[in-house]
Amino acid sequence: MNQEQRDATLNIMTTSKKIRVAVLYGGRSGEHEVSLRSAASVLRNLDTSRFEIVPIAIDKQGKWHLNDVELLASAGASLPVFENSAEVVLPANPNGKLAFSQGIDVVFPVMHGPLCEDGAVQGLLELAEIAYVGCGVLASAVGMDKEVAKRLIRDAGLPIVPYVSVKLGEWERNSAQVAERVGKELGYPCFVKPANMGSSVGVHKVADALKFMAAMKDAFKYDTKILIEKAIQAREVEFAVLENPVYGEPPLVSVAGEIAPTHEFYSYESKYLDENGAVLMIPAKISPEQMKQGQEIARRAFETLECEGLSRVDLFLDKNTGQFYFNEVNTLPGFTSISMYPKMWEASGVSYSELLSRLVDLALARHTRKQKISREYIAD
Ligand SMILES: Nc1ncnc2c1ncn2[C@@H]1O[C@H](COP(=O)(O)OP(=O)(O)O)[C@@H](O)[C@H]1O
Ligand SMILES: [Mg+2]
Repeated sequence: MNQEQRDATLNIMTTSKKIRVAVLYGGRSGEHEVSLRSAASVLRNLDTSRFEIVPIAIDKQGKWHLNDVELLASAGASLPVFENSAEVVLPANPNGKLAFSQGIDVVFPVMHGPLCEDGAVQGLLELAEIAYVGCGVLASAVGMDKEVAKRLIRDAGLPIVPYVSVKLGEWERNSAQVAERVGKELGYPCFVKPANMGSSVGVHKVADALKFMAAMKDAFKYDTKILIEKAIQAREVEFAVLENPVYGEPPLVSVAGEIAPTHEFYSYESKYLDENGAVLMIPAKISPEQMKQGQEIARRAFETLECEGLSRVDLFLDKNTGQFYFNEVNTLPGFTSISMYPKMWEASGVSYSELLSRLVDLALARHTRKQKISREYIAD
């Protein structure tokens, strides 16, 4: 397809009365393959009586391709990326001749990880003045940076596990001093993790000082800032949080889910390589008081980090003390039909399809609100 044909395709879309939802999938992160599976479920479950779907794949090189929804309909659990289909250019000028926004009403980014859920794509969509599902630039970026997120969460008076953070420059100059500080302040075992990553990539449980250097070296492959945390014996309890449809009201929180890894921790292997790597339980087997307490932390974390639309809030529940800790927020959590986020909502009375409709409606409502904001000084 050349540019004229692409224009024509986008123009045809404008003749339909349905809300045109561009499902963005793939993306340039290590979680590309997870996105293909999440997007396959989203495509299958979007309410086609209300929405017209425009699937757009981002290949691993970062090119955007307009895909054919009919061709994708027969795809299995994972969507293909048709790399020779028309390339989509996203101009920052919303009134440009080839404005991408002319063909769609709202973008649903169904992608995970850096460059996908860290505010980069969200910023591009802001520039193009297109409505999009989920957190804005700020919450997306903060949610991706585990260290900044923890600082804000701590500031809100919510519990976090003690940690030390180190940037590459300091590490290169003074690794021995860092190691000494970790030994003194946190002790072993500890967890070493890149600040901006996901899927447990670069995450290590470090048993003693001898193994610390190697873990840091590996973690620095993925980021220039590393978090070292006190390891706790934790149950992993998470909550699905959804923005309230009534603007300004507190966000809605699902029942808790629990992940019990069969490995030493919820590593990359247990997440993706071993199909028996973890047991998922919804609802989590926690007491009603713990459920309430966890939901309150999740709700406050969502608000503290200025999340919008959706987020999955992951907590640790200390097996020894019964104390909850905030671990991280995932602003675009896994969305396959068996993923925790949609499953936790299903268990809380919101079907997968209804959840998608609500997310699109929230995106459109925010866009309308933001369009009313003046960008210039208005004299009284
Ligand atoms: N401080 C900690 N104590 C105990 N387990 C931890 C700790 N930090 C991380 N883990 C384990 O490592 C996994 C991945 O860490 P996490 O911070 O959630 O990174 P990711 O964004 O890659 O999921 C967690 O699900 C948990 O199993
Ligand atoms: Mg995690």
